[in-house]
Amino acid sequence: MSAPNAPQALPESFTAGVLAWGIPRMRDLPWRRSRDPWEILVSEVMLQQTQVARVIPRWTAFLERFPTPSVCAAAPLGDVLREWQGLGYPRRARNLHETAGVVAANGGFPRDLDGLLALPGVGPYTARAVMAFAFELDAAAVDTNIARVYARVVGERLTPRRVQAIADAACPLGDSWVWNQCLMDLGADVCRARSPRCEECPVRRWCAWRGD
Ligand code: ADE
Repeated sequence: MSAPNAPQALPESFTAGVLAWGIPRMRDLPWRRSRDPWEILVSEVMLQQTQVARVIPRWTAFLERFPTPSVCAAAPLGDVLREWQGLGYPRRARNLHETAGVVAANGGFPRDLDGLLALPGVGPYTARAVMAFAFELDAAAVDTNIARVYARVVGERLTPRRVQAIADAACPLGDSWVWNQCLMDLGADVCRARSPRCEECPVRRWCAWRGD
């Protein structure tokens, strides 16, 4: 019997099912064409509280204005806040400006979890998203959508620590870029918070919650 907090290992067929569903349907989003950590970080920070469709033009405009951490760090905070206008939560822009200063001073982004977590405004999700999406390093990013997918599959409320352990165990080594993108698409398009489309779910066989 496993201890109550033991990570729940999902079968390999769960991983294979998500990938087989997600790869051919992968949404073509502009940040998915980039492996630049600054561009990825800006996308992730914008996506924290803003919908994909609204983020696309703002991400492009922001990076035209501030294409690198050095350019952003050299700009006055007011310019960054103005470019952020309408996106809300201006603290995110302040943190980005501060992070740009740290990265510019250090000559580049850290690639490890602790180094990324030390950047202003970068939490456990964002740090792992940069690892997976920019550096293609093994990391399981858990945002609210992905946490919901795992909670439903397992059929329990999960603490952040437990969902991270389950996500770490499920993440296929060497494939974390595509894995995290597919899980995000599953959470956004199928395993939606309201009106989930369980009948279209590729992993309903392994799901404790499936609506049938
Ligand atoms: N939300 C956060 N990161 C995302 C990504 N890479 N693709 C789609 N939605 C996201």
